[in-house]
Amino acid sequence: GAEVEGYNEPSVNSSHVNGEYAKINWDVLGFGLIPTDYMYIMNCSKDQHFSQGTLTPFGKIEVNPSSGILNYGQGLFEGLKAHRTANGRILLFRPEENAMRMKVGAKRMCMQAPTVEQFVNAVKQTVHSNKRWVPPPGKGAMYIRPLLMGSGPVLGVAPASEYTFITYASPVGNYHKGVLNLIVEEKFRRAIPGGTGGVKAVTNYAIIYKPIAEAKAKGFTDVLFLNAEKYIEEVSTTNIFLVKGNEILTPPTSGTILPGITRKSIIEITHVLGYQVKERAIPVGELFDAEEVFCTGTAVGVNSVNSITYQDTRIAYKRGAGTVGQKLYEMLTGIQTGRIEDKMGWTVEL
Ligand code: COI
Repeated sequence: GAEVEGYNEPSVNSSHVNGEYAKINWDVLGFGLIPTDYMYIMNCSKDQHFSQGTLTPFGKIEVNPSSGILNYGQGLFEGLKAHRTANGRILLFRPEENAMRMKVGAKRMCMQAPTVEQFVNAVKQTVHSNKRWVPPPGKGAMYIRPLLMGSGPVLGVAPASEYTFITYASPVGNYHKGVLNLIVEEKFRRAIPGGTGGVKAVTNYAIIYKPIAEAKAKGFTDVLFLNAEKYIEEVSTTNIFLVKGNEILTPPTSGTILPGITRKSIIEITHVLGYQVKERAIPVGELFDAEEVFCTGTAVGVNSVNSITYQDTRIAYKRGAGTVGQKLYEMLTGIQTGRIEDKMGWTVEL
């Protein structure tokens, strides 16, 4: 993997954990927080640059009750994974992409952002200091969560005077357990043109709890959001792809859809399987013509959809062995875990 400029040797002595695993049951990981040993923090004032951060034991932080994040939602997050390879290396997947996405989001949210080098360094230090929490090969991944927030006090509605960047990590297993039965959401919307749906603002997430809860109460796993013109957008935390004959379709990320790094990676590798990904607006009715549907995201990876229900009609899709979704899942996880040679230069070795 590429060496990133500005990477400093972690300042915490983690020799006591080298070669060891944390004592947890690695066979039952789900997607929930398992606190790890360290987090990385750095601060900066408005209109300044972030200065050198530090590793500190993972735990609670002090937050001003009047902070921009708590009062007005001035915050962004990222998510990326580290995998352990069969021969014991640890690989990060495209961390610079997350860093660049955070910079774009920070512009939209009027925040200071770390540089790409600072971001990648923070991620590396977080993983390095928590190495014993990176699951054994085949048991899951370490999910790394960089968080940028307006930490300075505000009362009037305005950007905070100080910013805090924290990176923490947790070992994780699968995000969705078992079958994936979606329902097309016709009442709630995730994003609007001109809003923040295209950046990873913290405010994009609590607003989908209600639609998800209503879908779950009806027996579905998750919802598929539409825009006002009834074109498909995304599932609550993942992008979506349709397989129709030799074509793979996904909606363009023109402001209301989160530009997923897994989404981008899938678009860049499907040609290997002889498919062409077309980014175009997809009317909801096209769900009836697809043979396969799959979701992509950092947390979910590539996950084939069992069914989508639209206006009381349940559309079932192909899933499992031999499907495009399954092949792409194998390719992606193969690259991420070092099983398949990374010809794209996507992985960064710790
Ligand atoms: C992801 O990292 O894939 C996400 O979309 C974050 C999700 C767990 C909220």
